[in-house]
Amino acid sequence: MDATSKGTPQTSVLFVCLGNICRSPLAEGIFRHLVEEQGLDDYFFIDSAGTGAWHVGERPDGRASLVARQHGISLDSRARQVKQADFKSFDYMIAMDRENLRVLEDLRPEANSDTQIKLLCSYNVKGDNGDEIPDPYYGGASGFENVYQLVHQSCKELLQHLRAA
Ligand code: 4NP
Repeated sequence: MDATSKGTPQTSVLFVCLGNICRSPLAEGIFRHLVEEQGLDDYFFIDSAGTGAWHVGERPDGRASLVARQHGISLDSRARQVKQADFKSFDYMIAMDRENLRVLEDLRPEANSDTQIKLLCSYNVKGDNGDEIPDPYYGGASGFENVYQLVHQSCKELLQHLRAA
């Protein structure tokens, strides 16, 4: 847990994909939007990162920004890579696919047992998505709409879960 300057206990959530320009910025933007809609801004610290470094410093992929905008959400992150200090800062690391999950488990310092590393789809109680958010990078626009829908549904369930925890 972190604490804000106001002393409110916060749950910190890091969304993780490969490049941090498509799926995890979408998840960060959608989750932040849901948190704000519910007036819970003070209770969450939200960020995203990639397991790879190719796009560090870049804004989200234009196709991810477009699909988010079409749903009334703006993405304002800059890509960064997951770092060891993240395991000190974050209560939850939420991976988009099994490869992201595996890399995070490999990076986890031996002394860290507190950070919960989970697949985003594990929170989707409907369970009809498979258990991964597919990588849309090499596909077309429809792949981004599909990713938006999967991430949105799973983020709703994640927030419900964290509110109840
Ligand atoms: P993301 O998508 O992991 O959802 O951000 C990708 C972005 C870039 C690459 C692969 C996936 N890439 O190979 O550069």
